[in-house]
Amino acid sequence: MTAMADQVKNIRSQFPALKLKFSGQDFTYLDSTNTTLKPQVVIDRIQKFYSEEASNVHRGGYQWSAQTTTNFENSRQKIADFIGAKSSDEIVFVRGTTEGINLVASCLSQSYLKQGDEVLISEMEHHANIVPWHLLQSKINIKVNAVRITDQGELDLDDLKAKLNSRTKLVALTACSNTLGTITPIQEIAKIIRQNSSALFLVDGAQLITEMPVFVRELDADFFVFSSHKVFGPTGIGVLYAKKEILEILPPYQGGGSMISKVTLESTTFNDVPLRFEAGTPHIEGVIGLHAAIEFLEGVGWSYIQSHKALLLKEAQKALSTIPNILFYGTAEKKSPILSFNLKGIHHSDLAQILDEMGIAVRAGHHCTQPLMDRFAIPGCVRASFSIYNTTEEIQKLTAGIKKAQEMLS
Ligand code: ALA
Repeated sequence: MTAMADQVKNIRSQFPALKLKFSGQDFTYLDSTNTTLKPQVVIDRIQKFYSEEASNVHRGGYQWSAQTTTNFENSRQKIADFIGAKSSDEIVFVRGTTEGINLVASCLSQSYLKQGDEVLISEMEHHANIVPWHLLQSKINIKVNAVRITDQGELDLDDLKAKLNSRTKLVALTACSNTLGTITPIQEIAKIIRQNSSALFLVDGAQLITEMPVFVRELDADFFVFSSHKVFGPTGIGVLYAKKEILEILPPYQGGGSMISKVTLESTTFNDVPLRFEAGTPHIEGVIGLHAAIEFLEGVGWSYIQSHKALLLKEAQKALSTIPNILFYGTAEKKSPILSFNLKGIHHSDLAQILDEMGIAVRAGHHCTQPLMDRFAIPGCVRASFSIYNTTEEIQKLTAGIKKAQEMLS
């Protein structure tokens, strides 16, 4: 067995979900872009929290609560280090990428964006990075403009340049498309934005976070948002990174406990950042679970993660290309192991259902990217996505499964 085969076997043994059976078959999970599976260390850490540490944070002076507050704030520091933030003050806990973007939209609409201003997104954004801006379009009459993508599914940088103007106040782009797998050149994009406008730059990092190391300062993003559940952590918790000088001038998001400095019956003054943006009891076990997930990921190591995923992408592209009448969406040169496709004459949902009966989990539909479906003139597609625990044998199983389903449905 090669070293990599040994390592994937060892990694698989740490994910209890991979022992499940569906339709009497071994479970082949090819939907990690939807959410990644959770390793035992993350599950154990959350169980330990509920057994021994489940006090509130920032509110109790007694030892039990003080220790949980220390663990919670240590996790904030760990996350800041993980993404290369200057300090843990730049890390705001939110429910996920969606809430992170909504928080930015809400705060900017109170203080920065005005009628007639433009927000520039792209044709390959997830709905989470489209709808919040549409809501502001209705509420304060901003304009939402979109950068085109090429037929390969790459961002058209000339179009980006052409669409930047003095009214562009925010550019909000994905770093890795959840449907096409395209990895966008964020540093290059940041340079173009800085050279051609004074716009702020928000990066949707929901997918990138599990693909490669992120150093927000190098990316030169003003905002970077991601979800824990895409990186082996619990659901319901995510991170909004923002440069401290920007957080400090943003108005609060939600009102409540913890985000205040002084409340009288007449008025409120607010806490320092980042707590100013975290009203109410936070998702403590989520934060602590994300900390465990990051330690797990670091233990696996980026070197394995990147080389294994590159291998899976290459093998999957090769194997699926042998299927007659397959149409791929997203063939960018730089992409993550996410393959979206259709079989001519076969509905994506029918194909996914037959694969499910073979124990193979893939996602079918519009993948929360309806404008992208419009761009490729399709109602939806099947998406197979691969992570650190997938194997080349699973790619063979998928390929054989698709061929069999094609025979059944033709
Ligand atoms: N954004 C997730 C996906 O792509 C839910 O499936």
